[in-house]
Amino acid sequence: MTKTAAITGSASGIGLAATQRLLAEGWTVYGLDRAQQTARGDRFKPISCDVSDAANVTAAFAAIGGPLNALICCAGVLRTGLMEDMSIEDFDLLLNINTRGTFLCAQKALPLLRAGVTPDNPSRVILLSSLAALRPKVVSGAYAASKAAVTQLTRVMAAEWAPSGVLVNALAPGTVDTPMVRAVSDPSASKGYRPSGVSPVGRIAQPDDVVDVMMFLLSDGARYLAGTTIPVDGGTGAAFIPAGSNM
Ligand SMILES: NC(=O)c1ccc[n+]([C@@H]2O[C@H](COP(=O)([O-])OP(=O)(O)OC[C@H]3O[C@@H](n4cnc5c(N)ncnc54)[C@H](O)[C@@H]3O)[C@@H](O)[C@H]2O)c1
Repeated sequence: MTKTAAITGSASGIGLAATQRLLAEGWTVYGLDRAQQTARGDRFKPISCDVSDAANVTAAFAAIGGPLNALICCAGVLRTGLMEDMSIEDFDLLLNINTRGTFLCAQKALPLLRAGVTPDNPSRVILLSSLAALRPKVVSGAYAASKAAVTQLTRVMAAEWAPSGVLVNALAPGTVDTPMVRAVSDPSASKGYRPSGVSPVGRIAQPDDVVDVMMFLLSDGARYLAGTTIPVDGGTGAAFIPAGSNM
């Protein structure tokens, strides 16, 4: 039987790659984004939605209406700056979209996810945290806080929702080659912020590196995983590498 997912942030980067992969694997995908959507196909259902707007999110999941097997929350923004300079508007934007928007989508999707549960197939929620939640960086403290909150939401939602068959986990990517990162790759345009960059694996991630781990979380093999935040960072956060190290 065709499986159905809702994916936020489906217009770009990791969310677009996840949308394209699930469509290719035969899923029906509801794509929620505030931007113009480019994914195509009979099984792709775009929904215009600002995830930080409660009325918008409620209307979007009401429009979906039927059972969901998965929710993947990729909608997010990055704003940079030293804590002493960070504007209140940027701080609020990060918390409103990355944290509040993720919470709103998960809460409004929950009845549909519970409706999608079968005895041998729990529904899945995959939230996008970040390596920044586990190992914050200078010049992006508010972003790190917004993602640390996602990781804590993941743990508590997982404990509260697993008994009804809904498994909640998060992914914590390091640097992924997407428009979000390309927009801050010039330090002079990003208040001195520097992405983590090339990992010990020897490159930065492509969106499909993250989607491959999503596919595992959607698979039967992940039926006993709940409440985790899995780093997908090529080892970037594993150990501190002092400048000038011989490697
Ligand atoms: N790219 C990275 O290096 C990286 C690393 C760690 C975590 N992440 C996280 O992964 C997720 C996806 O990031 P990406 O790199 O693909 O970014 P991206 O900018 O390519 O895509 C983000 C998408 O979210 C949408 N979006 C933003 N605000 C929205 C809102 N209020 N309502 C609805 N849609 C909204 C955008 O329109 C866009 O389509 C984000 O949560 C990001 O924080 C990214």
